[in-house]
Amino acid sequence: MVDETAGPNRWDADDYDENHSFVAEYGTDALELLEPTAENRVLDLGCGTGHLTARIAEVGATAVGVDSAPEMIERAREAHPNLRFVAADARTMSFDDPFDAVFSNAALHWISDEEQGATLRAVRDALRPGGRFVAELGGTGNVERIVEATLAELESRGYDAESPWYFPSVGEYAGRLEDHGFEVRFARLFDRPTELEAGEDGLRNWLEMFGDSLFSSVSTDERAAVIEGVEDRLEASLYDRDEETWTADYRRLRFRAVRL
Ligand code: BEZ
Repeated sequence: MVDETAGPNRWDADDYDENHSFVAEYGTDALELLEPTAENRVLDLGCGTGHLTARIAEVGATAVGVDSAPEMIERAREAHPNLRFVAADARTMSFDDPFDAVFSNAALHWISDEEQGATLRAVRDALRPGGRFVAELGGTGNVERIVEATLAELESRGYDAESPWYFPSVGEYAGRLEDHGFEVRFARLFDRPTELEAGEDGLRNWLEMFGDSLFSSVSTDERAAVIEGVEDRLEASLYDRDEETWTADYRRLRFRAVRL
């Protein structure tokens, strides 16, 4: 997970693997758009604990994972000792040998609007001319209900918070890619309601895993109450009482672009 600017999100690699495995599972759909081959050198940007890096390597490609979170890189190295993982910042990363493809799943939305330009420059520099950039991130409207309920709950308690995530539209991101020397071959925004793991604790776990920076000014004692307040606000729309599952209102932006 690349977390450059969103504040001190500390990643718990165990929790990530145990309770949020859907992140990598859904990422395999995006891999179909990458179509890696055995001849490819592929950079997995925001590789987290390395599940998708390993999937890329399975076809025989040379896969390198990069993530800004040392905890994730450590876990990825333990789980896949035969692969190369690098702790680096997406905005400043640089590599000696060019890649045929850069892949990224569920990571780019952690990079702020202001930092996207530096990231796209670094991705471009990492690719050979003709190399492809294939990614999936949260698109416009992603987790909107969760964000709105959380901000409303925080505001009702006197806290001033804002969303730490960047969820662009197709037009916005395609324009950005073109401005940074890419030709966009495919781009699509789609709804993907996502069932969270751990039953009735699903939303709480999700907020605890990903929402650190939203709660940075809330005391540890009050956090639980805030999260309960968010659950109350969202129960009618996102919780299925019969199945005892939470479904997050994910919307994905998926694209394939080629370096000119
Ligand atoms: C996402 O994958 O869409 C996402 C994950 C964590 C926080 C926000 C969005």
